[in-house]
Amino acid sequence: MAKKLPIAVLISGTGRTLKNLIDRIEAGKLDVEIRLVVSSSKSAPGLQYAEQNRIPVAVVQSSEFVGKQEFSAAVFDACRKAQVEYVAMAGYLKLLEIPEDFDNKVLNIHPSLLPKFGGEGFYGRRVHHAVLAAEPKETKSGATVHFVNNVYDDGPRIMQMEVEVKEDDTIESLSDRVLQEAEFELYPIVLQAFAEGRVKKNAKGEYYVENAK
Ligand code: GRF
Repeated sequence: MAKKLPIAVLISGTGRTLKNLIDRIEAGKLDVEIRLVVSSSKSAPGLQYAEQNRIPVAVVQSSEFVGKQEFSAAVFDACRKAQVEYVAMAGYLKLLEIPEDFDNKVLNIHPSLLPKFGGEGFYGRRVHHAVLAAEPKETKSGATVHFVNNVYDDGPRIMQMEVEVKEDDTIESLSDRVLQEAEFELYPIVLQAFAEGRVKKNAKGEYYVENAK
């Protein structure tokens, strides 16, 4: 068994992604230890999952800081104190400045096949609405795990998982399928690959997961 990879999970809202990671860890399927949950809001419903599982929480709200730099510094100070190796954004809606020591250590999952339907303003239902409204019609959507840099949804991609877009899809049915069939499978696969040292770079400098299972 791989050593447990110490991570922090960053949330802003309902925390379904966090809950899925906790469930996978409890099932013995993910060699990750969530040492800290950082929430951008003190009222994020997802905080309940941290509390139920006795995971330490840091609430770091941007309104309490003079600027993005100070706000980001507070988030990463909390991560350093928790001695995590990676930071996984999970429904986190804030743009952070990534400090040098966390370069290529911050991950995000986005509910589309980036670079399609990503960037500022593409979050939650808006992403799926845009997929369904696209012309010519999209036949596939899915999820992307990528490194986070200082631009929304722009960092190097690590792995994607596709789902079908159906003729009669609504925003709800598509977002459910992407969440259940792509996001909930993909994030654990990528995090387990980090835990086992299977995230590699090819000759073109692109990241990939070796022996993805
Ligand atoms: C998912 O669509 C995920 O891709 C995005 O946030 C949504 C989940 O939010 N980053 P949450 O985990 O339920 O808070």
